[in-house]
Amino acid sequence: MPESLEARKSGCRVAAEAGALILTRGGHAVDAAEAAVAVLEDNPLFNAGTGSTLNREGRVETDAAIMDGNSLKAGAVAAVSGIRNPIHLARKVMDASRHILLAGEGAYRFGTLHGIETCDPQELVVPAQRNYWQKEHGTVGAVAMDTHGRLAAATSTGGIFDKLPGRVGDTPLIGCGTYADGNAAVSCTGSGEDIIRTTLARHAAYLLEQGMDSMVAASQAIAYFSNKTRSEAGIILMNCKGQAGFARNSVHMPVCILGPDRAFFLDA
Ligand code: GLY
Repeated sequence: MPESLEARKSGCRVAAEAGALILTRGGHAVDAAEAAVAVLEDNPLFNAGTGSTLNREGRVETDAAIMDGNSLKAGAVAAVSGIRNPIHLARKVMDASRHILLAGEGAYRFGTLHGIETCDPQELVVPAQRNYWQKEHGTVGAVAMDTHGRLAAATSTGGIFDKLPGRVGDTPLIGCGTYADGNAAVSCTGSGEDIIRTTLARHAAYLLEQGMDSMVAASQAIAYFSNKTRSEAGIILMNCKGQAGFARNSVHMPVCILGPDRAFFLDA
């Protein structure tokens, strides 16, 4: 197994542990999902936050979203630069605005007004060659259920390499790359335009709503996506019983699942 894949699996584990710590202390699923994604954003091996891929002008523009399945509240940011942890900004949009999605300069200004950490956009850029590994260094996401049975989903990404400035992918679009309600929490990775076309997260949530097993629902959602688009995607999800599922038709997608029994599972 390539060294970078081992390191990314380990990065997933650290992120999951950060979320699990919040849950074992009785914290909210939204806090857990946000914490796990923030850890992944800080890890330069992932295409989110620090380590984000570059757009055609050589700049980082990030997308992120978070959704509280219990309240159906959601917050998202799109094409935003100079924010160290876009998932914290998305959370702030959810908690402190009457909107769901803020983009670009307006999102940045909202963050500065609400104490979100800013940075020189160059600080998010890791050595240029990483951008050529983009296919292996994907979007990050987390799904969680807390001790009260509340579900949450969070997703963050630098998008796709060489994208046009202003391009927005599936990640911040509720029902496309990110979705949570009382029955399901879903986070997607892969070809954003195709995930948008198929509203993949909502599609998977519908399968869970019908009572489908989590692993079967994840596989069926990816099969549906493949059939419709012939493109690549991965999905992680959780049902209202806290059962996790995942599937992918892409080469790599490290996954870490932590349950009440502390069982640990990674897929690559
Ligand atoms: N799935 C991430 C993106 O296409 O932006």
